[in-house]
Amino acid sequence: MNKKSKETKETKETIVISLGGSLIIPNQIDWQFLKKFKEIIISEIKKGKQFAIVTGGGYTAREYIQAARKITKVTLDDQDWIGIHATRINAHLIKTIFRKYAHSKINKNPRVKEDLNNYFARGEGIMIAAGWRPGWSSDLVATIIAERLKAKKLINLSNIEYVYNKDPKKFSDAEIIKKIDWKNFRKIVGNKWSPGLNAPFDPIASQLAEKNELEVIITNGKNLKNLKNIFSNKNFQGTIIKD
Ligand code: UTP
Repeated sequence: MNKKSKETKETKETIVISLGGSLIIPNQIDWQFLKKFKEIIISEIKKGKQFAIVTGGGYTAREYIQAARKITKVTLDDQDWIGIHATRINAHLIKTIFRKYAHSKINKNPRVKEDLNNYFARGEGIMIAAGWRPGWSSDLVATIIAERLKAKKLINLSNIEYVYNKDPKKFSDAEIIKKIDWKNFRKIVGNKWSPGLNAPFDPIASQLAEKNELEVIITNGKNLKNLKNIFSNKNFQGTIIKD
């Protein structure tokens, strides 16, 4: 690598995005959302940022698992593998729409020794990643990738606007939290993850994020104006988890 490209690589801000499957495929593929999402990400790449985008499974995962359940008993392992493959088909879709900007390989199983920065070595603005191991979530994959890339910020895009102090679906007096530290956030989500868990961010990923002093933003990805505000450090709707 020549000196100039090394300098560029080191000064770029890396943002990891956990792109919830509920945004890619809520019940059918939301291509209108993806089209606008693409425009925003590309304009940020042009401003000098680089992205690692980790895709969730969404409706595809649930639809396949439910179909299998109608016929047979589905083991947890099979359930996870269906989920992983759903995240991978979504990752391929994202790679396809970002073809010009994305590293050509989907990072589904980064080897421990692999330098993930190589994914940006030719000036690619994006690396795409998908599900990795049974028993994990795409949030955990995103947090591991943030660790490996030494990224400071992870944006969790899903269909929830804010973190609440308790489940707003169960408690009408649940309150919005705009900023919280990891210790208190982890008191809300607990220490256990299970498939389909209704938590704003995976509790196991939260443990790792706390250890790495990662900043995680929880926000509704559907609101793309809000996403632009996040990238421009303007006021936004969402929760910042940070120590
Ligand atoms: P996610 O739960 O991470 O995707 O993966 P999602 O679409 O963002 O999640 P929802 O819709 O908000 O719930 C879907 C499933 O794939 C399996 C898990 O079973 C998970 O529930 N998975 C994913 C793994 O087993 N390992 C991985 O590394 C990723």
